[in-house]
Amino acid sequence: MRRPRSRSTDVRQQHPAALLLAAAALVVTAIPASSAVAEPGASATALSGTRPYLDSRLPVKQRVVDLLGRMTLAEKVGQMTQAERGSVESDQTQITSLALGSLLSGGGSVPTPNTPEAWADMVDGYQSHALASRLRIPILYGVDSVHGHGNLVGATIFPHNIGMGATRDTALVREAAHITATETRATGPQWVFAPCVCVTRDERWGRSYESFGEDPRLVTRMTTAVEGLQGRSTKDLARNDRVLATVKHYAGDGDTTYGTSTTGDYIIDRGITKTSHKRFAEIDLAPYVTAVQVHDVGSVMPSYSSVQWTDVPGSEPIRMSAHKELLTDVLKQKIGFDGFLISDWDAITELPGDFATQVRTSVNAGMDMFMQPYNAPQFIQALTAEVQAGRVKMSRIDDAVSRILKAKFELGLFEHPYTDRSHIDTIGSAAHRAVARRAVAESQVLLKNDGKALPLKSSQRLYVAGVNANDLGNQAGGWTVTWQGQSGNTAFPGTTILQGIRKTAKNVTYSADASAPTAGHDVGVVVIGETPYAEGVGDVGVGGHTLNLSATDKANIDRVCSAIRTCVVLDVAGRTQIVTDQLPKTDAFVMSWLPGSEGDGVADVLFGKRPFTGRLPVSWPRSETQEPINVGDRNYNPLFPYGYGLTTG
Ligand code: GLC
Repeated sequence: MRRPRSRSTDVRQQHPAALLLAAAALVVTAIPASSAVAEPGASATALSGTRPYLDSRLPVKQRVVDLLGRMTLAEKVGQMTQAERGSVESDQTQITSLALGSLLSGGGSVPTPNTPEAWADMVDGYQSHALASRLRIPILYGVDSVHGHGNLVGATIFPHNIGMGATRDTALVREAAHITATETRATGPQWVFAPCVCVTRDERWGRSYESFGEDPRLVTRMTTAVEGLQGRSTKDLARNDRVLATVKHYAGDGDTTYGTSTTGDYIIDRGITKTSHKRFAEIDLAPYVTAVQVHDVGSVMPSYSSVQWTDVPGSEPIRMSAHKELLTDVLKQKIGFDGFLISDWDAITELPGDFATQVRTSVNAGMDMFMQPYNAPQFIQALTAEVQAGRVKMSRIDDAVSRILKAKFELGLFEHPYTDRSHIDTIGSAAHRAVARRAVAESQVLLKNDGKALPLKSSQRLYVAGVNANDLGNQAGGWTVTWQGQSGNTAFPGTTILQGIRKTAKNVTYSADASAPTAGHDVGVVVIGETPYAEGVGDVGVGGHTLNLSATDKANIDRVCSAIRTCVVLDVAGRTQIVTDQLPKTDAFVMSWLPGSEGDGVADVLFGKRPFTGRLPVSWPRSETQEPINVGDRNYNPLFPYGYGLTTG
């Protein structure tokens, strides 16, 4: 495991994060070795005799120096540029002519048909153009595999991070990430923009479900996801079951003040984190220290949001994409991050000044690669001009390019640039889905169970109500096949909660709107919750989003729970909803979060096939106005406290 270069002033000696790091180190345990070995593919070894950088026997550092020394400014700037695949679809030769370093699939940017083979063919097609470049530098292909390879139809879709945080099971998080890496790499992408190690401090944020929780110690422990994705050391990155990971969004994205977003269309997403250096280190920075120093994460994605120091008089908010102190002084120099920084989608356009100024500011702050979905040529032109004018030093360019090349060498892309499809048949396999099903079961949090209403008995006559009982799209949430996700049962395979219930109970009435007669039933099961959203689109106050229950959900609870003797309510949502008034009407209440494709896992705990063990990863508010409410607050009075969860069996 690589250690940071400069240990003398690293952040651990200056911030409480050191305690977190020590604690995190205790939870890092060996992972099951995989039998996978990278298969031979088309390689450049034929040239290795004349060009040392093509000799895989040499140390990566030596290969980087050799290759960098051969590159023109145009080739270097090209390596720092990432375009969305859609921008090169019409003319893939741009990949060669612009010497692009990377392509990505944004959420929902998928091949037609959306199959594993079509993905691999698509990525390999792009790669062939990269290998046609003068120095044959392969591209990195990135995707948001944030809860499985979510863009791919047929992939195993795990619970979103908020549910994985409820499991408190670091080994399971690592195993789920390993499966995600396997299913992703088998279809071509070698790089994922995951895991989000955001610390969600206000559930009115539309990305709260992408977080493992509100406690930085919990989020830090869950950075085992990095190990699941990358393996235990950079030597594993070349394997066909590993990918480069990205911890995001650095840092404080979940700690912004409600109402401070400056993008105009969001309210808290991309807002301002108003904090002191000490609190920032404790709450927002801690997971990154572990991700870098314990797990050797290969890339970091700075946040759209800004940081404003409360312990520095006159401090103004500075966007993370331009924050030299935090990108270079803290992350790279003090913490010792030697991977590369990838900007968020068009993030630099939210910086002050004209485009040239935005480019210059971010590069000089320490950004290494730029996600410029549809303006790669303009970015290349602007950065080249800034270097030629002396406003960006060549040493900064060489540092950025060296970091990027290091990842490509470690991934084995020069030896095996094309997709190794050995594991393509494991995608969505029963074995993978079984792990996801276990994750779903462990993520369920039992918050009330009067009269031992749960577990249910298979002989009971059940009345199930609520759209979210039988909607795969709603139970998977955002970042699933499309960016925002979508309701319905047609987009991808899986099992709904109702289907899971029906595999065990034989007498089940399903009435989505609770209009069917309730007489003659022993137990009512009402499934409430949210419909999918992603990012600031889900911010409370945007597009009607609220933490309050919908009128339909309230009506379903009222109708079913007043008519049937025993009433169980499940909440399928990305975040805590306001159930204060409804709770007394129920006998049992379960938070199901966003379980993903394996709804069976919910039925497993409902019927006692697995015990309830989940615990709240966030505090549960009594009202929307209680937010932000977090463990450790003064006058802490939530409906359910952080860490709460009843157990059964
Ligand atoms: C988005 C998100 C980021 C994601 C990127 C690429 O805007 O902020 O999490 O990785 O774009 O899809």
